[in-house]
Amino acid sequence: MSVKRNNSSENRIDQEKGLFIKKAPQDKLNNEYQMSSYGYELSQNSKLFQSPKPIVLSKGELSFELLKDISPLRSFFIKTIKENSTKEALRILKSHFVQLGKVLADIHSGENSNGLEKKAFPSDFFNSKWNQDDVTIHGDFTTNNVLFNSNNEGITIIDWSISPIFDFVANQGPRYWDITVFLSSLFLSSIKTYFKTEIRVELAKVFIESYIEASNIKEVLEFKRNLSEFLLEYHLYKVYKGKIDFNDSLIMGQILIPKTIKTLKQLAKSI
Ligand SMILES: Nc1ncnc2c1ncn2[C@@H]1O[C@H](COP(=O)(O)OP(=O)(O)O)[C@@H](O)[C@H]1O
Ligand SMILES: [Mg+2]
Repeated sequence: MSVKRNNSSENRIDQEKGLFIKKAPQDKLNNEYQMSSYGYELSQNSKLFQSPKPIVLSKGELSFELLKDISPLRSFFIKTIKENSTKEALRILKSHFVQLGKVLADIHSGENSNGLEKKAFPSDFFNSKWNQDDVTIHGDFTTNNVLFNSNNEGITIIDWSISPIFDFVANQGPRYWDITVFLSSLFLSSIKTYFKTEIRVELAKVFIESYIEASNIKEVLEFKRNLSEFLLEYHLYKVYKGKIDFNDSLIMGQILIPKTIKTLKQLAKSI
């Protein structure tokens, strides 16, 4: 996807010191540092996932411990689907999606979030209906920020901050936000990859059911109705409109994004 960001972020690696270093505007970095610390603590306690330890926050830079043997979960899924029969790919991937549902429930639990300076979305970002649901959110829970570790087959969560496309920071909001960001990125169609819709729908449902169970949600029907409504109203291709120039690429703007939106709508109806 051709992405034009409001704020450019540059990343680099210092092999000698074993650091991964990010550059970004200071308010974004401050929030990312706090959220990454929250994520790191959570990962240490829960053992469901890993998260790189934030090391130093300085002016304009934030460094993390350097991770090895990682690739975005998106690449792992695509590879698995390409190399296996549908049945076998589903078998392999399902357990990761169950795990991921538990991980997101853990993040939303807000456990040990004492050090966190709470930051809400701008008050007019969502319809007021959604402001009642307020949990600690990851912010940018895309299939690129969930990593797969080829060494231990574990999940690693990175990039604990709302996308730089938005000109604000937030770490509190409706639980449906992270789920919607995740599903939006999962359903992104691409001509380079072969990523079957029916597999994605099935995996999305596994992820949602696992999240519901791990979050101990009692009103399941109400939750699903809400998620379906939220997904239609705030999927990424809607909230990114005007912020990302999809028309840079004719295929992306005219074919792939409309296809993605269509399959997301199908999913919303079938949750
Ligand atoms: N701690 C780390 N060690 C090694 N590589 C990392 C680390 N954190 C991120 N990366 C790599 O850099 C990429 C971008 O990192 P991310 O934190 O998502 O930055 P951005 O805000 O630019 O999306 C990731 O997809 C991953 O491949
Ligand atoms: Mg990222």
